[in-house]
Amino acid sequence: MKYLTFALSKGRLTDLSIELLESVGIDCSELKGSSRKLIFTDETNKIKLFLAKPGDVPTYVEYGAADLGIVGKDTLLEEGRRLYEVLNLGLSPCRMVVAGPAELAGKLDTLNNKRVATKYPRIAREYFEHKRRESIEIIRLNGSIELAPLVGLSEVIVDLVETGATLKENGLVILDTIADISARLVVNRVSMKMECERINKIIDGLRRQLEEREGSK
Ligand code: PRP
Repeated sequence: MKYLTFALSKGRLTDLSIELLESVGIDCSELKGSSRKLIFTDETNKIKLFLAKPGDVPTYVEYGAADLGIVGKDTLLEEGRRLYEVLNLGLSPCRMVVAGPAELAGKLDTLNNKRVATKYPRIAREYFEHKRRESIEIIRLNGSIELAPLVGLSEVIVDLVETGATLKENGLVILDTIADISARLVVNRVSMKMECERINKIIDGLRRQLEEREGSK
């Protein structure tokens, strides 16, 4: 039997993904160690697993280097890769928002050529230029996006909000919500056909597990 390969996102989704996969009988024990090895194997289920930067997971899956992947919807929207998004795993729920100083509440469209700081240029462009038909200047940053409006680098930001604490502590407010975000199970388009039975079994197992978790809340 051919191995199915799973690409998992490094970072805040790693432990949640491992826990979910283990709950459906996929052995991730090797992944939890401190080994420098890059690919881990569950011999019983003939599954290989590896961790990658979240932004790279859709690339591995699109090209078939991984048959399946677990990655945030934010990354999927930003990367725009050709793959199947088959299941909302509900892990790490948060929102993609436009945020800025409270004075801008309800006045977003009065600012021409706004500067928008973000790690998500594609999502920001899609929202402002296609949905709102407003021209913007994108300022690409790699982290601590909330800093940008505080130091005059941009008027607004497009970023993830989970608890809202970072915005609050920095005197910023949500001006609009762009999308609900959480981790998704994605599948390579060819693998979905060639390994339909095994992949569907994994999807069904995960779906049942999620329903059980939902039921016991
Ligand atoms: C994320 C996000 C916000 C923050 C939101 O940043 O970019 O800054 O978390 O969380 P909160 O609503 O619960 O405060 P992350 O911690 O991933 O680091 P980064 O700023 O370096 O991107």
